[in-house]
Amino acid sequence: MKKAKLILDRDYVISPIDKRIYGSFVEHLGRCVYTGIYEPGHPTADGEGFRGDVMKLVKELNVPIVRYPGGNFVSGFNWEDSIGPRENRPRRLDLAWKTTEPNEVGLHEFASWARKARTDVMYAINLGTRGPADAQRVVEYANHQGGSELSDMRIRNGAKDPLGIKLWCLGNEMDGPWQTGHKTAFEYGRIANEAAKMMKWTDSSIEVVACGSSSTEMPTFGEWEYAMLSECYDNVDYVSLHRYYGNPHNDTPDFLASSMNLDSFIRTVASICDAVKGKTRSKKQINLSLDEWNVWYHSHEQDQELYKRKPWGTALPLLEDVYNFEDALLVGLMLITILKNADRVKIACMAQLVNVIAPIMTRPGGGAWAQTIYWPLKQASELGRGVSLLPQIHSEKSDTRHYTDVPMVDAAAVMGDDGSVTVFAVNRDLTENAELEMDLRSFGTFTKVTHSVLHHDDVKAVNTEENPDNVRPVTVEADMKEGKICLPAASWNVIHLEK
Ligand code: AHR
Repeated sequence: MKKAKLILDRDYVISPIDKRIYGSFVEHLGRCVYTGIYEPGHPTADGEGFRGDVMKLVKELNVPIVRYPGGNFVSGFNWEDSIGPRENRPRRLDLAWKTTEPNEVGLHEFASWARKARTDVMYAINLGTRGPADAQRVVEYANHQGGSELSDMRIRNGAKDPLGIKLWCLGNEMDGPWQTGHKTAFEYGRIANEAAKMMKWTDSSIEVVACGSSSTEMPTFGEWEYAMLSECYDNVDYVSLHRYYGNPHNDTPDFLASSMNLDSFIRTVASICDAVKGKTRSKKQINLSLDEWNVWYHSHEQDQELYKRKPWGTALPLLEDVYNFEDALLVGLMLITILKNADRVKIACMAQLVNVIAPIMTRPGGGAWAQTIYWPLKQASELGRGVSLLPQIHSEKSDTRHYTDVPMVDAAAVMGDDGSVTVFAVNRDLTENAELEMDLRSFGTFTKVTHSVLHHDDVKAVNTEENPDNVRPVTVEADMKEGKICLPAASWNVIHLEK
């Protein structure tokens, strides 16, 4: 058996964990909303048409915040289309996803769904085809108590109390030429600054997220953050990062090493924020919102076919990646990376929630089930609350196609308010178990240890409606002799230690 060592000390803390790192994302795209969260006539639908089976899985997933309504969709979206009587709402062409949006679900319906799902809304405004005045108007509509044209309109539309949306995205991926209303960093920085000012003048309690780079591969990466932030540093609170990984070469070790790229992406963006802080002599620190992250590649080809067959359809099955076990391992590694950067990453949204590159899948009129990637997010959200501890890891390292010095074992550790410690660990080795020695120094003795393992002998194993439990965590006997625990080959582990 291979060996690795993890040293933790209660005084070596990275940062308190912001619970919003366990967020998710619902976009008007494919079947995320229509036949995803919403399907009137479904046997489990409630009076508002929200699927009860999906709601149950969402509640169990325990996502504290959900970004809405896009994504690329938002850059051509008129928020006014989504309010008022349904029969008056327009059907519009969505240029981002080449589909037709019926606007059956809008701002009020989503706010109601979020309340039922016990989550908060992170609302994205359109800075692609629209501007600061429109951004101000939606904040007034949603959050102003009453007594103005827009807040009174909200009351007439059925919401006496303000919707109380506290977190707002200033557009989406504005660095990408695929975006409706794509801008240069300077153009975007200026418009984001003015929008942020007017939105905060309307409601000083809100926080706003400026668009960073859509990925590390963008030719403007780095330069974009610096130039954009130079225009809006004082008025924004977070910079966004988006990151998706794929396994196009069917090279599992290389794929599992991709979380190292995420780590350097996060660190680089944090450094650029600090460079602008230095240049502007600001006292304020800008933190990060990783508001789209996941594995995304399985559905690329089928989506191209679908577009050819059904142009401008509604609720097309787009981006329906069927996730396998190795995807769940990478999702676990990405969560470990987020936790290890908890001092800067304050918001993170797995993209997306239902059907569209999602942990939850549905069949119209049929069942709902958890994909493989559901499990690491659920477990991290459940036990990863408290403070992130600095994990000192000694592990064998190897090289892959794109990465050097990839540790066999990667881990993050969280100390809960009750004094418990939870270790999240992945053994990347595909064939050999690893014995993890945990040196817990100042923590003393833990009397109760629970060890949950997510493993499958086939890294390509998936969950389906017929076989929804094919890949799911099991609790194994926690044999912690002399602080040593076995991490099976290719496994995501959650080790919970209580006094
Ligand atoms: O999540 C799918 C899409 O990925 C989003 O709409 C966009 O922001 C990103 O490119």
